[in-house]
Amino acid sequence: MGRSEAKIINLPKIVDSRGNLSFIEEINQIPFKIKRCYWIYDVPGGEKRGGHAFRSNEEFIVALAGSFDIILDDGYKKTKYNMNRSYYGLYIPRMCWREIENFSTNSLAFILASTFFSADDYIRDYRQFKRNIQK
Ligand code: TYD
Repeated sequence: MGRSEAKIINLPKIVDSRGNLSFIEEINQIPFKIKRCYWIYDVPGGEKRGGHAFRSNEEFIVALAGSFDIILDDGYKKTKYNMNRSYYGLYIPRMCWREIENFSTNSLAFILASTFFSADDYIRDYRQFKRNIQK
């Protein structure tokens, strides 16, 4: 199974004096079909989320409110993305280690996922992740 690159994807933004609107359609704005949505909120100051990779799940993360940082590690290099607008998101391919940190007060991370939840899809041990990457 190949792996695509992580990337920031700008979303459509319908600017309107009544308030702006953005949207996501599977395949059209993001490169997968959506099986699941979840969101992370009420994160206490200083807490971190993530700390794992997925064997097959791909995700797209949008900061619907506030801001946070996503640090991606493809096994070779780390890249930090500051998420602070609701008109772009970060596409995360499979087999990419992620940490999410530096959440602002009342921030809201909205995540679209390509698979149903499966605990077996998680790699939570960093050394195991590195071994799997090098295979
Ligand atoms: P986890 O993915 O580890 O959180 P994060 O990476 O955002 O820090 O999930 C935390 C807990 O929630 C874990 O016990 C699994 C559960 N969970 C579900 O039951 N369904 C889901 O869709 C997700 C994302 C998590």
